[in-house]
Amino acid sequence: MAFFSKSTTPAPAPPEEPSADLPAHVAIIMDGNGRWARQRHLPRIAGHRAGVEAVRAIVEACAARGVRVLTLFAFSSENWRRPESEVNLLMDLLLTSLQREVDRLHRNGIRLLFIGERAVFNAKLIEMMDTAERLTAANAGLTLVIALNYGGRWDVTQAAQQLARRVEAGEIRADEIDAAMIEGHLCLRGLPEPDLFIRTGGEQRISNFLLWHLSYTELYFTAILWPDFDARAFDDALTSFAARQRRFGRTGDQVEQAKGA
Ligand code: IPE
Ligand code: IPE
Ligand code: MG
Repeated sequence: MAFFSKSTTPAPAPPEEPSADLPAHVAIIMDGNGRWARQRHLPRIAGHRAGVEAVRAIVEACAARGVRVLTLFAFSSENWRRPESEVNLLMDLLLTSLQREVDRLHRNGIRLLFIGERAVFNAKLIEMMDTAERLTAANAGLTLVIALNYGGRWDVTQAAQQLARRVEAGEIRADEIDAAMIEGHLCLRGLPEPDLFIRTGGEQRISNFLLWHLSYTELYFTAILWPDFDARAFDDALTSFAARQRRFGRTGDQVEQAKGA
């Protein structure tokens, strides 16, 4: 085609239709900021700042590859256990990063969502999150989910409380509650399940991230520290994902047959 349209600038190719080889939803534990800073004899917050740059690169890569949802674990419900000074600096960094990035994300058609217990944050940060969600709600590009004060156990607990309230109110019967109904009360309701989970920083654990949703997610662990995780490293994770056979309880032969059909 390019041969025939020398004089016109070709329109940018639309993101490819997501195929089975491309995860629709990628969920990432961005770990290793502190160690990255320590290796450079810098304060831990310098690692968190460098981590924000890595976020920008990976958001761009996801949008370019046609990933539909990216969920990033930014602050866990257990991270309050860190020294107060680090928590305060992290909160400041969150606020300034949001202030700086939201308009650009919006211009790029990205929809922002925050999951986690929001009420504990200061009023300014809560307002920032609400405004960003409202501003970007109609965007049809990548959905960027930021998990803040999120814990997988908290998520399941709040879903159980919502359902119990509905039972108490007589809206539903207890024995009507099934997996789909529980899922419908979790923070990620309405979004595709994570296909690919990535944890940087070398630890091989879930650290109370998406406990319910990861049941059939492909897990990918890399020793790369989060600030060093770039588009190339991300593509390595996508390549690993594409080479896997997801069986969901079936046999490998069944999966092959269904593919051929
Ligand atoms: C992840 O990096 C960022 C947050 C948890 C906020 P860490 O701060 O956990 O980095 P390490 O694990 O100490 O290297
Ligand atoms: C998980 O990392 C939480 C985030 C990346 C936000 P942690 O560094 O807090 O996990 P643990 O404590 O090593 O399990
Ligand atoms: Mg860590």
